[in-house]
Amino acid sequence: MLDLRATADAVTTNPLGDELRGTRNAKPCSIVILGATGDLTKRKLVPSLMGLAKDGLLPAGFAVVGFARRAWTDANFRKELADGVRQFGRPDTSSHFEALADAFTFHQSDFGEAAGYAALATKLEQIDRARGTAGNRLFYLATPPSSYSAILRNLAATGLSAERNGRFARVIVEKPFGRDTATAQALNEQVRAAFRERQVFRIDHYLGKETVQNILALRFANGIFEPLWNEKFVDHVQITVAESIGVGSRGGYFEESGIVRDMIQNHLMQVLTLVAMEPPAALTADAVRDEKVKVLKAIRSFRPEDVDGATVRAQYTHGSFAGEDVKGYREEDGVAIDSMTETYAAVRLQVNTWRWANTPFFLRSAKRMPRRATEVAIHFKQPPHLLFEDGKTHQPNVLLLRIQPDEGVALRFGAKVPGPNIRIRDVRMDFRYGTAFGGETADAYERLLLDAMVGDGTLFARADEVEEAWRIVDSIVAGWKQSGARPEEYVAGTWGPERAESLLGPGRSWRKP
Ligand code: BG6
Repeated sequence: MLDLRATADAVTTNPLGDELRGTRNAKPCSIVILGATGDLTKRKLVPSLMGLAKDGLLPAGFAVVGFARRAWTDANFRKELADGVRQFGRPDTSSHFEALADAFTFHQSDFGEAAGYAALATKLEQIDRARGTAGNRLFYLATPPSSYSAILRNLAATGLSAERNGRFARVIVEKPFGRDTATAQALNEQVRAAFRERQVFRIDHYLGKETVQNILALRFANGIFEPLWNEKFVDHVQITVAESIGVGSRGGYFEESGIVRDMIQNHLMQVLTLVAMEPPAALTADAVRDEKVKVLKAIRSFRPEDVDGATVRAQYTHGSFAGEDVKGYREEDGVAIDSMTETYAAVRLQVNTWRWANTPFFLRSAKRMPRRATEVAIHFKQPPHLLFEDGKTHQPNVLLLRIQPDEGVALRFGAKVPGPNIRIRDVRMDFRYGTAFGGETADAYERLLLDAMVGDGTLFARADEVEEAWRIVDSIVAGWKQSGARPEEYVAGTWGPERAESLLGPGRSWRKP
């Protein structure tokens, strides 16, 4: 269950204090990280586990086994992790790692080697006896997707994926979850051959962000927004995930994916479903996900000939950023000189439901934008009759959900400028997380790791959600392929190509966060 009370009561109680602890008890378990020598373990997973330790949210019986090909010892593994916690963890988490270091061990094996999994099973039983992990196992697939199939096959063959005698066996699958519908379906088949859906946790770290969860709190814990949340009052919605970084050392990966697969298929579609969904009957994993998947089902696949009119794609060219020269995308390492991969995409989507019939949703994501900013902007319609003639200085209302950074919610509205004349100017009512709640914000992975240990799948993508999102993205990619047009260009450090403005239609323009 998604715990909205933790957000709502946070002004008076510590959101990570007794209340949260009382409602979200993780059972004792061993976490097996497959691909444990990779960056994710060091940067995110173990620092996040230590964040949970700091907040008293780890179970008493707890162990982590790092499973990977490299010939590391327990000591090597612990040293890497200690470095990771120091560099990437929340303040004061290193001491928690020192106290728990014995709980981390390394298991060397090839992902395709059956004997390695049999030895893992024996090791996990020893750990159960030594550390009280009670036979519960959480497998984290943190390898490149090419290893998933071998891992899933071996976990099933050794019986490690089976739930027995009330002991849980769960799997967390990292993104990318396939690269199109066909590969996502094939992966879902492989997952299903080893685990039941309730054992599977497909991670999308955006769902672990407090501000993304706050979309549901804002909509369903308040009486004033929901009556306006429909096509009668909302002109359009803009969802933006802008990053200032380029592709950096990930050129090879990015070439194969592009922004539409890397960001829109997962993070932006997930945010879209939370904004557009109907109220669920309950805050249970399936009730919430049933409503989310209905949103995706209500978006038609594009016909190839319609894609160019409903999307804009582009690549960044050489430019300057914070006073420094930065490379264009096609000059980055691992990127083809004639690459057709997009680093910017903007898409117009229509959710064909009674609620949203005439309200377009515009999704935009890009690298090398002037600023890092993720936000949802609900643009309301003009009042039916404009009493004040000052239309130029006064714009329609916007409810802005700032996901990151500078997390908060703002409402833009018109106010009278003091003085003898009636002049209207836009002003803002602003709620800031930092000011209202204070304290440290936990990393998204903390919440998601805890939920997987608790067994709550609400903030994870279900098989049908992933496949529906791919269906839409596939139709975009197919249209681009058919048209064969080169991506447009934008100078690194700018807000993207001109044509993206015309995508919105008359009287609308993209926000510049
Ligand atoms: C990842 C993408 O899923 O999300 C990256 O693969 C991207 O390309 C990252 O940079 C953005 O995440 P965040 O949390 O920094 O917005």
